[in-house]
Amino acid sequence: MRDAMHGAVRLTDYAPAPWNVETVELTFALDPHATRVTARIRFRPNPAAAPGQGLWLDGEHLELVSASIDGAPVQPDVTTEGLSLPAAALPAEGFTWEAVTEIDPAENTSLDGLYMSNGMYCTQCEAQGFRKITYYPDRPDVMARFRVRIEGPQRVKLSNGNPVGAGEGWAEWEDPWPKPSYLFALVAGDLISHDDSFTTASGREVALKIYVRPGDEDRCAYAMDALKRSMEWDERAYGREYDLDLFMIVAVDDFNMGAMENKGLNIFNSKYVLASPDTATDRDYELIEGIIAHEYFHNWTGNRITCRDWFQLCLKEGLTVFRDQCFSADQRSEPVKRIADVLMLRARQFREDAGPLAHPVRPTEYVEINNFYTATVYEKGAEVIRMLRLLVGDALYRQALDLYFERHDGQACTIEDWLKVFEDATGRDLAQFALWYSQAGTPRLRARTDWAEGVLTLTLSQEVPPTPGQPQKAPMVIPVATGFLAPDGSDAAPAQVLELTQAEQVFTFEMPEQPVVSLLRGFSAPVILEMARSPQERAFLIAHDSDPFNRWEAARTLATDTALAMAADPELSADEGLVSALVALAADGSLDPAFRALALTLPSREALAQESYQRGTQADPDAIERALTELATAVAQGGADVFADLYARYETPGAYSPEAGDAARRALRATALGYITRLDPRGIAAGTLFGAATNMTESLSALGLLVREDAPSATAALATFYDRWQADRLVIDKWFTLQAMTSPSGVALERVQQLAGHGDFEWKNPNRFRALIGGFAANPTAFHRADGAGYRFVADWLLKLDPINPQTTARMAGCFETWARYEPGRQALIRAELERMAAVPTLSKNTREIVERILGS
Ligand code: PHE
Ligand code: ZN
Repeated sequence: MRDAMHGAVRLTDYAPAPWNVETVELTFALDPHATRVTARIRFRPNPAAAPGQGLWLDGEHLELVSASIDGAPVQPDVTTEGLSLPAAALPAEGFTWEAVTEIDPAENTSLDGLYMSNGMYCTQCEAQGFRKITYYPDRPDVMARFRVRIEGPQRVKLSNGNPVGAGEGWAEWEDPWPKPSYLFALVAGDLISHDDSFTTASGREVALKIYVRPGDEDRCAYAMDALKRSMEWDERAYGREYDLDLFMIVAVDDFNMGAMENKGLNIFNSKYVLASPDTATDRDYELIEGIIAHEYFHNWTGNRITCRDWFQLCLKEGLTVFRDQCFSADQRSEPVKRIADVLMLRARQFREDAGPLAHPVRPTEYVEINNFYTATVYEKGAEVIRMLRLLVGDALYRQALDLYFERHDGQACTIEDWLKVFEDATGRDLAQFALWYSQAGTPRLRARTDWAEGVLTLTLSQEVPPTPGQPQKAPMVIPVATGFLAPDGSDAAPAQVLELTQAEQVFTFEMPEQPVVSLLRGFSAPVILEMARSPQERAFLIAHDSDPFNRWEAARTLATDTALAMAADPELSADEGLVSALVALAADGSLDPAFRALALTLPSREALAQESYQRGTQADPDAIERALTELATAVAQGGADVFADLYARYETPGAYSPEAGDAARRALRATALGYITRLDPRGIAAGTLFGAATNMTESLSALGLLVREDAPSATAALATFYDRWQADRLVIDKWFTLQAMTSPSGVALERVQQLAGHGDFEWKNPNRFRALIGGFAANPTAFHRADGAGYRFVADWLLKLDPINPQTTARMAGCFETWARYEPGRQALIRAELERMAAVPTLSKNTREIVERILGS
């Protein structure tokens, strides 16, 4: 499948595996520098493949000690990527391959394959880490039953499935469900478990265990609770029960991603498991809930039904993100969750879609698959399914999913399989809809309305912009949820979902009075809506739209328009209408406090730079910073009384609870404090809250404001915080992030340079690296300093991390993907850093792919 010239793998080159695997038996004799892996694999010819083929097994960084076929030693042809045996050496009806390999987990800094974290052994096999453990057909369409024996002195030795035996120095596991190698997992260490159980709808008892390092066991309760709610939700919403007697989660400190859905043995970045009120914020709790659910939901959407090849990644990821989004919406507030998801989608996916890394939800080629765990595959993948559900309706959506599980259980599938169940369940032709999987770029949706003599005419048109490799696009199916507001603000007619399928389409409606049209309610499609409206009309929607998403959207659009106008013209002052509309929302006690907090949060510097570019103006980060500061000050002044009142009244009584209701009050109160602090550069109120806070949410928001304002007490507060939490790695990550992200642009670089020399900056730990270096790259005005020193600092650190951890480096190199947004001076400075990186001959394949794609070479 490898293209010799460019090293690219292509979807069109897919061919079924010549050999299927029936069973795998693995024995691990653990040793930090010389772990021995014995693999016994039963191969059978795949009837779906061309007969008479040889055997290819993937393998990297392995030392082959011995190999045999049906007990007779063989000498395979070994390269750095794997080994092969000719067909002539293979019994045509099938055979048992046995191999002993030796690996060095202690030296494995890539955190891919078998590696060590704080003395504990753990694995990460998605996408292609299993080949660093033993020789194997490491591709998701080869599904097999695994039996695993682990030998070592560790107290806890875990693998997938059910425990089938253990004794002094050994443990054995058997997974009854056939699975691809990327779902294999092994953990061994002196861990402690937090235990519970769950009874499934059909009455089966499942033991639940969360394994952590000793000392962390009192921080697992929330994750456990989220797990049980997830199990219950998947039964109720999708009819899916858990299918083993045991479900385990292990928390590790060194992890490249958020978490991993290995069958029966999920492995998590510890930051998405561990929580206590004094160490975790409301946001952390929310993320833990969502990620626990996500990984659990993969048991059906990913594990029982997996992907045929890695191009189909969105089959499991888009669907599982959609499922976790719905779960969180059900557990909390649906509109608030939708707004948060759309903010994320725009910040990460629209950004990706608008730049050099744009690719379809189902890509057609890659050099390094790990570079395709992207916002497009995940978040846009989820949006596509959300549209599908809207188009077919909830009941047929559920029927289609039932059919999907029934038809494809135990299989490795494609997007075609997925769409086919919808076609069969609904009778719809989804050929045009399928373009959402193959065309990259965010469609522009343009809308015009006209009303005359009792008839409303709505003209919708669409355009999908060119993206790398895709100069021309066809029109897509865009569901446009539409409402109509009467002059008194009530709904003039029932809302409906219009289906735009052509480049331009006209819709007419009988409307005795001229309505205000509310378009794309609930953000019914991942598009950029362009519609000229007066500020008065937007203010009307802010006050009256019965769709909470569009109410928020109207406020956001008005704020964006105002901020960009102010950035373009320093003489302009903040729009009065916007300020009073925001203040009115703030004061409206009938609205969810979390909704108000979101509505009061001005667009970020990053969002404004992107919006400016979308509207055809290269962004000047300093002008954006100035405009945003002025706008925030105007809101702070216009709403001073309201904010003071909110701050006084929205205290959260009683003991800390991470529930949505209390979190919402804290969010609104923190937003109010943010505005209060705008007019209080000494940070008196924030300093008081910092001193009095009894939970991490308040402590961190107060500290952030002190740092943002560079208040006189900021330095002492940072020191107090550090002294209190220096033994807590997750809290110290926050301490690094906060300073890197929030420090004013004039001092930020110097601070992060100092912090990079701090004894606690353990840069080989991905969480710590992301905290400081990623935090700084997310401080736009500082990162985009006009002298280029911000770019240089980040590039230097990426070059330092790349040799030890290519995956995390490549992912973070995406911070340069937005270069085209900025004025020519910054563009040249960014390109110079990218060229400097590309010129390093030893740059990893991962990082090289990203850097070269950004450079357009
Ligand atoms: N499959 C994981 C998830 O979506 C993400 C992941 C990918 C983790 C690759 C590690 C490596 O939950
Ligand atoms: Zn996932």
